[in-house]
Amino acid sequence: MRMSQSSFPAWLAAQAAEREERGLTRRLADSDRGEPLLDLAGNDYLGLARDPRVVAGAVAAAQAYGAGACASRLVSGTLSIHTELERAMAAFAGFPSALVFSTGYHANLSVVQALADRDTLVVSDAHIHASMIDACRLARAAVTVTPHNDVAAVSRALAGRTQRRALVLAETIYSVLGDAAPVAELAELAAAHDAVLIADEAHAFGVAGPGGRGLLAAHGLTGRPEVVATATLSKSFGAQGGLVLGSPAVREHLINRARPFIYDTGLAPAAAGGALAALRVVQADPAAGAVLSVPMPGPREALAAVAAAAGHGLRIGCFRPPSTPDSISRLRLTAHAHHTDEELALATKVLRRVVPQGRRGTRWRQG
Ligand SMILES: Cc1ncc(COP(=O)(O)O)c(C=O)c1O
Repeated sequence: MRMSQSSFPAWLAAQAAEREERGLTRRLADSDRGEPLLDLAGNDYLGLARDPRVVAGAVAAAQAYGAGACASRLVSGTLSIHTELERAMAAFAGFPSALVFSTGYHANLSVVQALADRDTLVVSDAHIHASMIDACRLARAAVTVTPHNDVAAVSRALAGRTQRRALVLAETIYSVLGDAAPVAELAELAAAHDAVLIADEAHAFGVAGPGGRGLLAAHGLTGRPEVVATATLSKSFGAQGGLVLGSPAVREHLINRARPFIYDTGLAPAAAGGALAALRVVQADPAAGAVLSVPMPGPREALAAVAAAAGHGLRIGCFRPPSTPDSISRLRLTAHAHHTDEELALATKVLRRVVPQGRRGTRWRQG
């Protein structure tokens, strides 16, 4: 057998060697093995993935509908639990309708691919999630990448477009940077330029806005014809799956045109049942919104508190303008269901040290 440099095994080996040399090798590790760590890295913001009510919802759905949906939603893979989940999520988020996907990644791929065409300009924030970047490629649309949260650049791109239609892509809370998009300004621009704002609420849905309804709801932007939202069920809702929220016409269009929806097996019943149960927990029990927001005198004080907490072995979040609509800098702490009393006691002790007196009378809030 011929084994030249260009053979498949040789190519794989060369790729691996190059990654290793550059220190870029990624490795998978079973997170449920080895020394248990205090997890401040995962996206199970509300600690619902292991909540008994959510697990029971997943189990009940698997028992009632089976382990898989067994076909594309358009063949025989649409189950009543999908429809129930879509209605419940749309009502919660304040949109007229919703469509459920097997992942948030698929939701993003679908919405851009189906709503853009060759006569569409896609104006994309520089820090948009990879799923949106891939979606632009799938859509074969013209793309203008604007600097992060640069409203003026978005405005210029829309004003100078030669394409008939335009989409503006943003995350409402950016997954890596953790800051918020200027959604009100972006929606205003979209309306003024006959464009559509597609806002990914992956890191906001369930934890930000009124009752966890997301940042679009916080700005009164849900249900507007020029605003379409995407969300994931795999972060705050502790399950798996994605959502597109918009008008019934958008839903119908996606069912007919979104390739990652049409050619994909429907969401697994257990994921749908888990997400529905998580939604009920979020709606019924505002205390489940485990985001502790601590208003601070200013951004410098907030940053100093973060540094001091880190010195005591505690990683805490920090929200500063422009990610706070009211311009108040805040510390942001997320508790997870798996945090023990001892860990919370340690956190309280450290916070007593690093948060100025008079600022501790804060409340647990949902969003
Ligand atoms: C901003 C953003 N959008 C979409 C996704 C994809 O969601 P899912 O993990 O449900 O596919 C992620 C997940 O990493 C994300 O961070």
